[in-house]
Amino acid sequence: MLSMVDNPPQRVLVTGAAGYIGSHTVLALTRRGHEVVAVDDFSNSSRRVPARLDDLSPRPIRWLELDVRDAAAVEATLEAHRVDGVIHFAGRKSVEESCRDPLGYYDVNLMGTLSLVEAVVRHRIPRLVFSSSATVYAATQASPVAESGALSCASPYGRSKLMAERIIRDMAAATSGLQVALLRYFNPVGADASGDIGESPLGTPSNLMPVICRVASGLAPAVSVFGADYPTRDGTGVRDYVHVDDVARAHVDALAYLQARQASLTLNIGSGLGYSVFEMLRAFARATGIDVPHRIAGRRPGDVAELYADTSAAERLLGWRAEHDLERMCVDAWRWQQRNPRGFDD
Ligand code: NAD
Ligand code: UD1
Repeated sequence: MLSMVDNPPQRVLVTGAAGYIGSHTVLALTRRGHEVVAVDDFSNSSRRVPARLDDLSPRPIRWLELDVRDAAAVEATLEAHRVDGVIHFAGRKSVEESCRDPLGYYDVNLMGTLSLVEAVVRHRIPRLVFSSSATVYAATQASPVAESGALSCASPYGRSKLMAERIIRDMAAATSGLQVALLRYFNPVGADASGDIGESPLGTPSNLMPVICRVASGLAPAVSVFGADYPTRDGTGVRDYVHVDDVARAHVDALAYLQARQASLTLNIGSGLGYSVFEMLRAFARATGIDVPHRIAGRRPGDVAELYADTSAAERLLGWRAEHDLERMCVDAWRWQQRNPRGFDD
């Protein structure tokens, strides 16, 4: 779908640019004619990502290694590169790890956001897009969940996202000329069709799609299905899987909206459809011809039965809607896995 708003070229600073969603967004930006200054500290990504992206991108990307908590380095970067907008992906993202290391999560996710927002305001940068998560929604409400849904988080990770949202919203309210977009992603999966970039978590993956791909390629014996006794249509957890290319495009559209409409946004970014774990396994088998073995395991602490998005606001305001279906998500995730069985370090 074409964006509903004009999209003149901008120079954009992307933090966490070597990560899963960041790398796909850098590509989406350069493919739409934008200029990118890409920063990352490579704490959860490979140093091989820049070269892969440089090969795929139609435009040169300027890469800088920095920690977003380093306020002086962020300040110097914004001084040196006059950007029109910032997309802030850099952060830590594991619910489970955040329960073991809450301070580490508040440090990176909040201190990183504070130093960045401070520099954005000081340099009068007019647009900021922030990576939030569906994890900010209270687990008790029925899906589809709209942006007005009740907010409450069960983990330090979730709370760090909610606090960062509030800091950014408060700063936008207090700063004339600053517009912000808070994008709440549901379950991004898949990879660029080239198979050259994709999700490559350091360590063993815990999200469903990377786990399915690992099992399909023989790196693990079976998918543990975390609960088959939920009050859902087949007893397994239902989620809103959305292709990472669609997620990346939402950032480009959000930047264009902020520029054209001079208004801030909070939007769900999902497909608006809920699929169960069993449905995911069947979709993967249909898309790839591989029947992935599974076993029923106990429920995973912190999981909810069902969570999927009401995406009507993104459609109404941005003209954005997820385009790639589940089959495409599986095909692209599998292509990435096959070409890079051990991630970027193969
Ligand atoms: P990712 O870990 O692949 O990418 C994050 C990137 O940030 C990594 O390259 C990492 O090295 C970098 N980084 C971390 N700390 C940094 C620091 N202090 N300074 C500079 N760079 C730093 O994660 P992702 O899946 O691409 O997620 C990106 C953002 O989206 C995160 O903020 C995450 O919380 C949010 N999010 C992700 C999902 C998901 O399912 N992947 C869902 C909801 C929200
Ligand atoms: C998890 C995080 C969420 C984060 C998202 C993306 C939790 C509680 N939530 O979401 O905050 O934004 O990842 O990083 O960790 N499943 C299995 N077997 C597996 C893996 C998953 O059955 O090996 C099931 C889960 O129970 C769930 C579904 O698959 O029903 C999706 O799980 P996952 O991919 O981890 O995403 P979320 O739990 O939605």
